[in-house]
Amino acid sequence: MKILYAASEAVPFCKTGGLADVAGSLPPALAEQGAETAVILPLYRRVREKFADQLTFLCYDYVDLAWRHTYCGLFSMKKDGVTWYFLDNEQYFDRPELYGYVDDGERFGFFSRAVVKMLDHLEFWPDVIHCNDWQTALIPIYLKDDGVREDRYRSIRTVLTIHNIEYQGRYDPYCLGDLFGLDRGWVDDGTLLLDGDLNLLKGAILTADAVNAVSPTYAQELKNPYFAHRMEGILTQCGYKLSGVLNGIDMKLYDPAADGRITANYTAEDLSGKAADKTALQNLMGLNEEPNTPIIAMVSRLVSHKGLDLLREVMGDIMELPAQFVVLGSGDAGYEEFFRRTAERYPGRMAVRLGYNEALSMAIYAGADLFLMPSRSEPCGLSQMISMRYGTVPIVRETGGLKDTVQPYEAWRDAGTGFTFANYSSADMLHVIREAVYLYKDYPDAFARLRDRAMAQDFSWNRSAGDYLRIYGAVTGLSWEKSA
Ligand code: ADP
Ligand code: GLC
Repeated sequence: MKILYAASEAVPFCKTGGLADVAGSLPPALAEQGAETAVILPLYRRVREKFADQLTFLCYDYVDLAWRHTYCGLFSMKKDGVTWYFLDNEQYFDRPELYGYVDDGERFGFFSRAVVKMLDHLEFWPDVIHCNDWQTALIPIYLKDDGVREDRYRSIRTVLTIHNIEYQGRYDPYCLGDLFGLDRGWVDDGTLLLDGDLNLLKGAILTADAVNAVSPTYAQELKNPYFAHRMEGILTQCGYKLSGVLNGIDMKLYDPAADGRITANYTAEDLSGKAADKTALQNLMGLNEEPNTPIIAMVSRLVSHKGLDLLREVMGDIMELPAQFVVLGSGDAGYEEFFRRTAERYPGRMAVRLGYNEALSMAIYAGADLFLMPSRSEPCGLSQMISMRYGTVPIVRETGGLKDTVQPYEAWRDAGTGFTFANYSSADMLHVIREAVYLYKDYPDAFARLRDRAMAQDFSWNRSAGDYLRIYGAVTGLSWEKSA
């Protein structure tokens, strides 16, 4: 079975969030289980700069999109049993950031169209193209569009993974022909239309052969208007085409026993390194050096679905607890301002760093004691899995993948892997934060056992890679055993 995985970011090349972790670690896991796997990504400036000496230029071609006839270069490199392809167009991708430009629609329309065009130049003809989120949602559409379609595309099946339904790729309908070069039939029959807008993700949900969300709970939630951002009807109609597959993490990349990015390594059996990481974190962030005060941490994009409104309501109450608070994040200006101002009020006890900083994120996962994710919605969430791996006990709201990965702490039978609350309520969140802080302070043995259970969880791709191979098998009719 031959899989082409198309994504807009992947570790270690380029990352803004969890999609990059998934696109960097699932394909090698698929390859390990016997599928021939390649990944295709845009050649962003930061990839070109950081990996220049490892990339091989293969060829170039021209991509026709509406009235444009645009250069597209193809680079590749081999790593972890996977071929990584990069599509080059300097006008679109030689920029400092991955997203956030007015022409993002045009950039990723180009990318999706170019993936189809460049199939001729890849080392294999894929049985499945696996698309991720709105940036690659036009791939199944182009494969079937009257102006693009070719007979040989009919052998290719498509799978769409929804990492977050909030981001749909919505554009003015005039963009259909002018920007995306598509036939107006796609709007006339409603495939690409929702609430009067062009909607790229809707088009992929309807045309892909299989659709999955990144956790079983999120797959169910997507049928509910509270979570679905107007897509509940379309997703309910999907029936068996829609499933939930829980993300894994790269257990080698995130391994406290071997991670070269942290001050001291440690294991569940010997946590002395974690104590050193805590001191290092307190020094680094200008917090009081107090080994017995629990550090509550957040590493997050600062956007609304992450539940930051709840914090706004009870930040003062949290800071009355015998705890320290650390935040690393970037995103909406309002939240950035809120955290910056709050930290000023609690010198030595609260520290905030705004921006994206991988090294600091690892110092936090390793050095903190509690990890807070009060998300309003969370398709999967990787941070809680990473934090558990580093013995930093999660405090989460029971939604999406948070519900599927964190078992609630139950003192009476000494069970669970973290603290959870069900309602989107600041009072309920405060209640479990208090419970967590006082368990740490007053019952260190019980807290240590809880941390042990969290650290012992297996979040590797072993199980979920098999689930994806079963989906590929179902849509292609091919065996997903090791190809001969
Ligand atoms: P999302 O994809 O919604 O942002 P996830 O929990 O799936 O949430 O993944 C977030 C990933 O991005 C984690 O690997 C987390 O450590 C990382 N991350 C988020 N914000 C930052 C930041 N400011 N600096 C460094 N890493 C970050
Ligand atoms: C999205 C979601 C996050 C998920 C990640 C990887 O960014 O917000 O919950 O873990 O994708 O699938």
